[in-house]
Amino acid sequence: MYVCLCKAVTSQQIEDAVVQGDSYAQIRQKYGVGTDCGCCGQSAKQLIRQTVANLPACEFSEAS
Ligand code: FES
Repeated sequence: MYVCLCKAVTSQQIEDAVVQGDSYAQIRQKYGVGTDCGCCGQSAKQLIRQTVANLPACEFSEAS
């Protein structure tokens, strides 16, 4: 599904970038999300938050 129509960026591209460790700013710079009409910014941020929340917990976070 397209999140950013202006730059033709899909939800899969954003999810993959988040898994690789990219922040919204990095995704914005890399793909141009939110840099044209800006309509997709909130949707992209929400998708990033959801993707981060669904990432497996870091094994080191349980050690503390
Ligand atoms: S829909 Fe993403 S900048 Fe326009």
